[in-house]
Amino acid sequence: MHMRRAGQRGAPPLNCGVSRTLVGPPLIPPTLAIGEHVLRPFRSSDAAAWYAYLSDPRVIEHTSWPPITFELITTVVEKAIADYDELRSLRWALARKHNDELIGSCGYTRWLREQGTAELAYDLAPSYWGFGVMSAAVRAAVEWALGAGSLSRVEALVMTTNEPSIAVLERTGFRRERLLTGHRLARGVPRDFYLYSVSSHAG
Ligand SMILES: CC(C)(COP(=O)(O)OP(=O)(O)OC[C@H]1O[C@@H](n2cnc3c(N)ncnc32)[C@H](O)[C@@H]1OP(=O)(O)O)[C@@H](O)C(=O)NCCC(=O)NCCS
Repeated sequence: MHMRRAGQRGAPPLNCGVSRTLVGPPLIPPTLAIGEHVLRPFRSSDAAAWYAYLSDPRVIEHTSWPPITFELITTVVEKAIADYDELRSLRWALARKHNDELIGSCGYTRWLREQGTAELAYDLAPSYWGFGVMSAAVRAAVEWALGAGSLSRVEALVMTTNEPSIAVLERTGFRRERLLTGHRLARGVPRDFYLYSVSSHAG
């Protein structure tokens, strides 16, 4: 895995974990290879494929996504791309290697550089559920964030009813910290969430 910084497009890639202190220009999300898949930066053209499965009610049922419209997803994709510059968030498209088509998303909806922490979120097209693809993506995203990304902690908030997502977190080394009662509204209804985390200094 390699990373580079904005303004260094022609420069050779730096090794992961070279620096634990981020100074200077923001990181450009690296492309991370995961078997037959890849985590790569979002492109505007990803909106259609993302919308195609996020509009399946099963996908958002146990999440706090608002009702899905194509306009909403277009806006979220454009924000993800704009946020790369300031590193407000860092979200990847999860794509198939052979055709680069988006089948999921994984990454950090909030990246708090000064506090050394970020909030992880992910989703996968239903036709890919059950094969371990997201667990592999989460492992890669967390390893990168705690290494090259210089974070010391990654958090995830998961609805208490979201068993597949809880399984992903526990499979990838996250620990449940506490229950947050009525923490977020899911389409107008307050829902309970678990706070999970993983730290670079966890034993
Ligand atoms: C959360 C979500 C990504 C999990 O998808 P998933 O397919 O269960 O997760 P993975 O890709 O890691 O696959 C794990 C499954 O593959 C199986 N598997 C097969 N090979 C595997 C491997 N090599 N490694 C890990 N798991 C493997 C596991 O047993 C598990 O199946 P099971 O649930 O029947 O036991 C998916 O349910 C989803 O997109 N949900 C909607 C959005 C959402 O809830 N996002 C999270 C918000 S917090």
